[in-house]
Amino acid sequence: MGKIIKNFSEYQQQYSSSIKNPEGFWDEIAENHFWRTKWEKTLEWRFDGEGSPEVKWFINGKLNITENIFERNYHEKKNQVAIIWEPNNPEEEAIRITYHELFEKVKQFANALLKTGVKKGDTVAIYLPMVPELVIAMLACARIGAIHSIIFAGFSATSLADRILDASSKILITADGGFRGSKEIPLKKIADDALSDCPVVEKAIVLKRTDEDVPMKEGRDIWWHDLIKSVGSDNEAAEMDSEDTLFILYTSGSTGKPKGILHTTGGYMVYAEYTFKNVFQYSEGDIYWCTADIGWITGHSYIAYGPLLAGATIVMFEGIPTWPDAGRFWQIVEKYKVNQFYTAPTAIRSLMAKGSEWVKKYNLDSLKVLGTVGEPIDEDAWNWYHDIVGNNRCPIVDTWWQTETGGIMISPLAGITPIKPSYATLPLPGIQPALVDPEGNEIMGNNVEGILCVKFPWPGMMRTIYGDHKRCFDTYFSLFKGLYLTGDAAKRDADGFYRIIGRIDDVINVSGHRIGTAEIEDVINLHPLVNESAVVGYPHDIKGSGIYAYVFCANLFDKEPELLEKEIKAIVNVFIGPIAKPDKIQVVSELPKTRSGKIMRRILRKIGEGDATNLGDISTLLNPAIVDEIIKGAKVVVRK
Ligand code: WTA
Repeated sequence: MGKIIKNFSEYQQQYSSSIKNPEGFWDEIAENHFWRTKWEKTLEWRFDGEGSPEVKWFINGKLNITENIFERNYHEKKNQVAIIWEPNNPEEEAIRITYHELFEKVKQFANALLKTGVKKGDTVAIYLPMVPELVIAMLACARIGAIHSIIFAGFSATSLADRILDASSKILITADGGFRGSKEIPLKKIADDALSDCPVVEKAIVLKRTDEDVPMKEGRDIWWHDLIKSVGSDNEAAEMDSEDTLFILYTSGSTGKPKGILHTTGGYMVYAEYTFKNVFQYSEGDIYWCTADIGWITGHSYIAYGPLLAGATIVMFEGIPTWPDAGRFWQIVEKYKVNQFYTAPTAIRSLMAKGSEWVKKYNLDSLKVLGTVGEPIDEDAWNWYHDIVGNNRCPIVDTWWQTETGGIMISPLAGITPIKPSYATLPLPGIQPALVDPEGNEIMGNNVEGILCVKFPWPGMMRTIYGDHKRCFDTYFSLFKGLYLTGDAAKRDADGFYRIIGRIDDVINVSGHRIGTAEIEDVINLHPLVNESAVVGYPHDIKGSGIYAYVFCANLFDKEPELLEKEIKAIVNVFIGPIAKPDKIQVVSELPKTRSGKIMRRILRKIGEGDATNLGDISTLLNPAIVDEIIKGAKVVVRK
């Protein structure tokens, strides 16, 4: 099945042919898919100039991605299990859904969406917990050509409303509630709060999951089970152009509101399947488990689309790694004899902190490949994952990529590429990374560090920011002419292997979730006593980055700082969600600013890290004395 790399020299050959002749390379891969009409031209692109970026792959090709999941493989796959769903509570029964059953459910729900009035090109907001219906809903949208916009079910009402409004979603699919560890999340209640600000939403489809009593608004809300009652499963897929939108997914940047990253159909499909098969070396009969939430890009590409296109059997898990206890992940690996296991460094660090006994209680012999994604993995966590979880015998694929890239960009191919702790190693075929200096000059050779950019398009890359093409150019293509700016810095070692150092902008990775510090500041500033705030990340043992907020209040009006902190956390919780709650809040009498009024985040970052040994030149500050005062009041011990 097309271009599955089996050894390192094949990787080298494919890599070099993908650079010499990208069109020919991707043509051959795309030919393994089912196209109603073959594309006429493989690629047109521009990263620079009027209207850029402009990237089109498989031009005028016609297809439907769900036909490639279902119809294409139907005879071989119909009786194979597609999804093994493991509920939050181990006492509840797991569900197995075959490709045939999933196909029927997707077609039926596609018909239900049509009946509700959803048309090709409409955006559908999906706010669901990790239940099979989430996959069914997303694939049903793809089936009829509706654009899904999935919103992580940990987001607050305000965040949900922002995303619904930005994408003008007419339909919301949600649930009465969701289970997460010992908690029940009142999703319908949160959705109701959001919908009070979203008159655009005509219908809300509500899945029963927790069985809690929820009000249903006459004329707007309809139960999922009622909606599908009289709906059949005969459904022909809508014909999509390669460049028709498949989905929007919101992500944070260094400024402004989250951006709706837009992915299209043909290129994304080809890239998701190709990268899945090659990175994880999935073989027939394997059980693959990615622990991400479908609300993030990892879930889109490597729970849903990539594996299902490849005809894999996936585990989908509703719960969290530490409930009912810290052995939950390993118990599931043992229960289903998972072969490929893909998770985030934050989960690894938190389980490592609970001790290796939890791992050793279970038989993990089935594991063949371990994967990580979302943030740099430090050597300690890498070694623990490798030695304890993988029992020294499983390669780790440290996969570097982004919401914007659609799929994995730099990563070992399991068992093929030599691995090195905390290195994402080498670019996948078709990917042309460049390290550049702050002036945008490419840094050649090895043993160098620079800003990570990409020089040439790949099929899975985003096409635009929904509703704001200029912002897409400004954010990713304007700093260095003709290059895609990733926002990360990286090192290339003597062997040409890449190690991702971290973000160069005001974006932080908190427990593998990407958050813009400006977003948090905007929300903190809503507190009536806060005049100004500055948020930075600081190293956190479990979360990777913790959130440190410095707040300036001109007058506290006798408010106890502890109470203020509580209120600030509550506001962030309400406006963004628990993932963005600051870990440390320091009230300051002034923020360090340059004479031109710019907050010196560099200094605040250093203090937050507990290191004031090298603050650089602070004489340009409006009031240099403030630095000492902030150090004295810091919520960490600061070395001077
Ligand atoms: C970071 C997640 C180091 C990086 C798929 C990137 C990583 C951001 C890695 C994208 C990795 C992702 N090593 N850092 N293996 N993978 N990152 O959009 O900073 O949620 O820019 O996509 O996560 O986060 P996003």
